[in-house]
Amino acid sequence: MNSFEINKIITAIIITILIVVLINKASDFIFKLENEKIVAYKVEAPEGSVLQEKSEQIVDLSSLFKDADIAHGEKVFKKCAACHSVKKEGGNKIGPKLWNVMFRPVGSVTEYKYSKALSGYNKEWTWEEMNGFLLKPAKWIKGNKMGFAGLKSDKDRASVILYLNQNSDSPKTLP
Ligand code: HEC
Repeated sequence: MNSFEINKIITAIIITILIVVLINKASDFIFKLENEKIVAYKVEAPEGSVLQEKSEQIVDLSSLFKDADIAHGEKVFKKCAACHSVKKEGGNKIGPKLWNVMFRPVGSVTEYKYSKALSGYNKEWTWEEMNGFLLKPAKWIKGNKMGFAGLKSDKDRASVILYLNQNSDSPKTLP
């Protein structure tokens, strides 16, 4: 073996070691990326789910009605009045009549033709249900046909719910 051959062998060994180190680093990096992806999915999935939003709503409810104001609710209801009447003698419009709506079963005005989403919902209009529905109608009861984006402001929602509650044969006391 001459020194030229020894040099070649040493070079080959060094290159091999370098390649092994590089592959290691690369796979570490890819593994880390994968991990980060998995963590990101884990965090995102529950946040977007309706379930979590529903439970958050239930938690918020006790403080929701602190700033509720019936006169303000009457003003907010102007947004609903294009499609709903809330008067006792009022009839159905684009949407069902809303006299007595609080605590009646969802989708239960007999002469109104509801979507399957509402008529098959099988719950009552409790404070929680009405609050969740008015926050984001399309999300709360999937597939319903109320063309209304929702009321983002807590005060607007609480006040209009108070107003609906008042337009009833037997208004309930607030939660
Ligand atoms: C663009 C028209 C429109 C607007 C605006 C609108 N709604 Fe509706 N609403 C509807 C329709 C249509 C339905 C029936 C939905 C279905 O059958 O899927 C409905 C259903 C409802 C129901 C269910 C009633 C029941 O008998 O179960 C409630 C409660 C309700 N609306 C409240 C409101 C309130 C409060 C507002 C204002 C903040 C509002 N809506 C704004 C069209 C509207």
